[in-house]
Amino acid sequence: MKRDQTRTPLIEAIEKHRSAKPISFHVPGHKNGLLMKGDPFYQSDVTELSGLDDLHDPHEAILEAEDLLSDVYGTLKSYFLVNGSTVGNIAAVLASCSPGDPVFVQRNCHKSVMNGIKLAKAVPILIETEWNDEGTALGIRPDALKEALKAFPDVKACVLTYPTYYGFTFNIEKIIEELHKHDVTCIIDEAHGAHFTLGTPFPKSAIECGADIVIHSAHKMLPALTMGSYLHISSSRVSERKVKEYLTMLQSSSPSYPIMASLDYARSYVGTFTKGDVDQNIKVVNEFVQALEGIHPQLIVYRAHDPLKLVIQLEGRTGYFLQQLLESEGIYSELADPDYILMILPLLKKNLSFPYKEAISRIRRALGNEPIIEKITNHESNRSNSNEYFTTLALSFEDMEEKDELLVALEEAEGEISAGMVTPYPPGIPLLIPGERITSHAIERLTEYVKNQANIQGHHRLDENRVFVYR
Ligand SMILES: Cc1ncc(COP(=O)(O)O)c(C=O)c1O
Repeated sequence: MKRDQTRTPLIEAIEKHRSAKPISFHVPGHKNGLLMKGDPFYQSDVTELSGLDDLHDPHEAILEAEDLLSDVYGTLKSYFLVNGSTVGNIAAVLASCSPGDPVFVQRNCHKSVMNGIKLAKAVPILIETEWNDEGTALGIRPDALKEALKAFPDVKACVLTYPTYYGFTFNIEKIIEELHKHDVTCIIDEAHGAHFTLGTPFPKSAIECGADIVIHSAHKMLPALTMGSYLHISSSRVSERKVKEYLTMLQSSSPSYPIMASLDYARSYVGTFTKGDVDQNIKVVNEFVQALEGIHPQLIVYRAHDPLKLVIQLEGRTGYFLQQLLESEGIYSELADPDYILMILPLLKKNLSFPYKEAISRIRRALGNEPIIEKITNHESNRSNSNEYFTTLALSFEDMEEKDELLVALEEAEGEISAGMVTPYPPGIPLLIPGERITSHAIERLTEYVKNQANIQGHHRLDENRVFVYR
């Protein structure tokens, strides 16, 4: 029998604790917010007191909350994470492979996946992706997977990103089926798809598609505080003991109760979402898109497979230009790239509202009526020009430790081995990976990001147009 998803056991336990007007002789140092002028936000920032359970050894409210989570997603075991999908990806990789094991990775993975592989001392095999018409990378190419399976029959795990940051999906069911034939553990970084469990018109969820471990950034698409995430185990291919051990090692011994309470709330929010809520949500999204499309002749709205993601282009201008224009009227998008901006829409229940009308008037004001064409953007620039099915690192992690780094001009770096992970953020997908040979495609993309003053994380000197390499 399905459990009562209106329940929020951890929130209830915190409220019960607060209602007894506790006097704090414990951490945290703000003493239930008293040292913060009584700000109510701090009053739920408690710690592992009687009745409030312990994330690392749950028996009471947190265990109950995690069981309710497992029930919503139909998993064998689900965990609250307080350090984002970042920690979920790293723990999943560490628990699924041993040093020296080949691990397949979608080339456009989040940097946490590569960091997990490095910590596991495993060997990443970077599989090339398919591309959609909008020039954004999708999932791994099925032909590339076939070749990689032939070349690395002892592969232990595969990490796929589904959906992509931009909300596009691909047929992971088939890919997982193929990988399972070779007994490969399928880890799906579904950071952006915690709401897919709601079913049509949302894409199929990774758990439904047969994944073994799934990671959700609850804070991205559900109403959870930043860093609040979930990790789900949905098959016996995965060692629950190992996953738990790595999560305990990698997460704080003082996990944030506000984050965990928000995870409890977010699970109840999605667990009680009705068909009526979905229908109403889609209706208002469609109305918003229709209104957007009529605002300016150069404004093009692409709908992703996830109905809550809009990829928007101002024809002839860069995504950065459009982002700045909208910000002048207080409209903040998730990210900009050389071509597009990405807007993430809310997962709204029927009884809640969102200022879509106000947003439309502000966007109209920002764009005006005049043509704003300047240059034609090059849509091919996103697309990788690689003819390879997969690539491997030119240097092992061990060899990298022994090498000295050298700074070279970005435009002269083709064919060199990168010594740094260089990641435009957002979206957090590395363009250079340590140990990987630098391609002309990566140089073109980075040059474009630098030109547009995008935020680029990592080990580089791109302010001087230089990158670190190993020789
Ligand atoms: C695809 C993907 N995976 C993982 C992450 C990391 O998630 P978090 O911010 O919850 O640590 C992100 C963050 O943007 C992401 O886009």
